[in-house]
Amino acid sequence: MKVITFAKHKGGVGATTLAWGVASVWAEHHRTLIWDFDPQCSLSLAVAGDCQVSGYDILSGQKLITEGIHDALPAYGPNLKIIAASNLLANLDIETASRFDRGHIVADLLGDLRGFDLVVLDTPPAQNSILSIGPLAAADYALLPCSTDDASSQQVPRFQQTLEMVQKRLRPELTWLPIAANLYQHTQIMDRQVLSNLRENYRVFQAVVPKRVSIREEMAACRPCTNEEIRKLAAEILEEIK
Ligand SMILES: Nc1ncnc2c1ncn2[C@@H]1O[C@H](COP(=O)(O)OP(=O)(O)OP(=O)(O)O)[C@@H](O)[C@H]1O
Ligand SMILES: [Mg+2]
Repeated sequence: MKVITFAKHKGGVGATTLAWGVASVWAEHHRTLIWDFDPQCSLSLAVAGDCQVSGYDILSGQKLITEGIHDALPAYGPNLKIIAASNLLANLDIETASRFDRGHIVADLLGDLRGFDLVVLDTPPAQNSILSIGPLAAADYALLPCSTDDASSQQVPRFQQTLEMVQKRLRPELTWLPIAANLYQHTQIMDRQVLSNLRENYRVFQAVVPKRVSIREEMAACRPCTNEEIRKLAAEILEEIK
């Protein structure tokens, strides 16, 4: 079982969209679990609609992890399962403040899990929250989506610091995957410049996901992703982690 956390260095870079797309492509051939840590719940709604038990119930110790694993909507096929988010996740930082093991809560829960090939953890924009750090501390791989604009690319060094902190204190074996470039508009000079700068300074996947309404529409319609670049990205990630 390989655990990949879709990490955040900035809001709105398309992390949840890529997590949805990549997981839905992987689920064609692999037993795939999504765990949504974002109190906004957008990934959960796109993949499963309403769920009885949420990740909040699991993280707060009221339910077992196995009780929180739900089938995805039928369109995604039988291989995709999800642990859904809940608005209550927003309380978790305060509720776990005195727990000495808070950094390892997610890792401990996933450690007991069997029956999946790939686990995708989607994190919220809050960077120093347990909802972001916990999933990184539970992961084998951190994937950083980055939109091809200055504001997003300038924040990558800050993510690097977070990653090094997690590696040093919580998860030495955490590996940083190449950056996944998203929301690319190749007609824009600035997008081309930012992509070229990213490639000069970091490893970046060859697949670059364009800004396309069709991607938003598919996710909003709760259907698996058919976008060619996201499919290529899903394949490249598998190649990287095999
Ligand atoms: N490749 C794309 N083409 C078109 N729209 C996209 C693409 N990627 C993301 N979007 C849109 O951009 C917005 C932000 O995307 P998303 O919610 O995936 O980002 P995020 O990084 O997860 O945001 P948050 O910080 O709230 O977690 C959404 O409206 C989404 O539909
Ligand atoms: Mg998101």
